[in-house]
Amino acid sequence: MSGPGAGAHDSGMRVASPPALWAYLDGEFLPLAEARVGIATHALQYGTGVFEGIRAYAAPDGEELYLLQARAHYERFAQSCRLLRLDPGHTPDELVEITLELLRRSGLRADTYIRPFAFKADPVIHVALSGLATGLGIYAVPMGDYVATDGLRVCVSSWRRLSDNAIPARAKITGSYANAALAVDDARSAGFDEAILLNEDGHVAEASSANLFMLRRGVLVTPPVTDGILEGITRGLVMELARDQGVPVVERSIDRTELYAAEEIFLCGTGVQIAPVIEVDRRPVGTGRVGPLALALQAAYMRACRGQDERRRHWLSPVYGRGR
Ligand SMILES: Cc1ncc(COP(=O)(O)O)c(C=O)c1O
Repeated sequence: MSGPGAGAHDSGMRVASPPALWAYLDGEFLPLAEARVGIATHALQYGTGVFEGIRAYAAPDGEELYLLQARAHYERFAQSCRLLRLDPGHTPDELVEITLELLRRSGLRADTYIRPFAFKADPVIHVALSGLATGLGIYAVPMGDYVATDGLRVCVSSWRRLSDNAIPARAKITGSYANAALAVDDARSAGFDEAILLNEDGHVAEASSANLFMLRRGVLVTPPVTDGILEGITRGLVMELARDQGVPVVERSIDRTELYAAEEIFLCGTGVQIAPVIEVDRRPVGTGRVGPLALALQAAYMRACRGQDERRRHWLSPVYGRGR
C-alpha cells in the first residue's frame, strides 16, 4: 500500500509547497505557497477551526484519480461548521466541485490527501464563536501511507479522549487535536506506534486519528458513536465491507481488557486506511501477526478505492471524468 510519500509515518507529512500545487482560499485558486493567514488569526490562537481529511486514489493505470466519499466528508464538514458557528459559504456539493477543480489544476494523478479547513479568520484577541468572519481554505498534497499498514504496536494512553461536554469528538475541531497529540506523542516516546484513548467512562474510544475495530469470538465490534469518537467515514465503509464478507458487526462499548482478549484489532481512517494492530500494551493480539480479516478488508478497501470494485463506484468521484 505504499505510494508517493510512503514513510510519512516516521515524522508526519510535512506539507511542501512546490509551485505546481494549488490551494483554494476565500474564493480564489492560488499557489499553495501563497495561501497564507496572519499570526493573529483567531483560529490559530484559540483552535477555533474545523477540518476534513479526504483522500484521492490513483487508478492502477495512473490515468484517473478518484476522490473517496467526498460528499460524506463535506456533510461532516458542514456539521462541524455548525457546531463552531462557522459559515463555509458553500454547500457540500459546491465544495466537492471546488475540490475536483483544485485537483485538476494541480494535475495530481498520484495518491493525494486533501485538507479542507474552515476557521475563525478575524485577527481578534477575544475568546468567542459568534460575530467572527469565517475563512475557508482547501489544499491537496501527494500522500502515501500515513502509518504502517503491516502491523502496529500500540498502548492504551493515560490521556483520556475529550468528552462530548468538553470538546466534542464528533466534530473535527482543530483545537481538540492537542488531545490526540498529547496521547500519540507519549506513546511514541515510550516506543509504541500509536495510542488508544479511553473515554471518560473508561471505555475504548479510538486512536489518535483513527477508529478502532476488534474481532472477538467471530464478531467485529466497534465503539458506538456515543462513546466519544469521531463518526468516521472509513468506519462506515469497513462495516459495509465486513457485512458483505459475512462477518457480523456490532457497535457496543469495549472494555480495555477486551483488547487483550481480541482475536484481531485494526484501526481505520482516511489517513491510516486500514492498519492492523499486532500488539497492545506489549501483549500480542491473537497470534501476534496481522489477522486474516484485517488482510481481507484491506484488500477489499483498496480495490474499491482504486475503482476496481464496480459495486462501490458510488464511493468515488472521478477527478478527470473517465467513467463518469
Ligand atoms: C480522531 C479521529 N478519529 C477517527 C478518524 C477517522 O475518520 P475518517 O474515517 O472519517 O477519516 C479520524 C480522521 O481520519 C480522526 O481524526
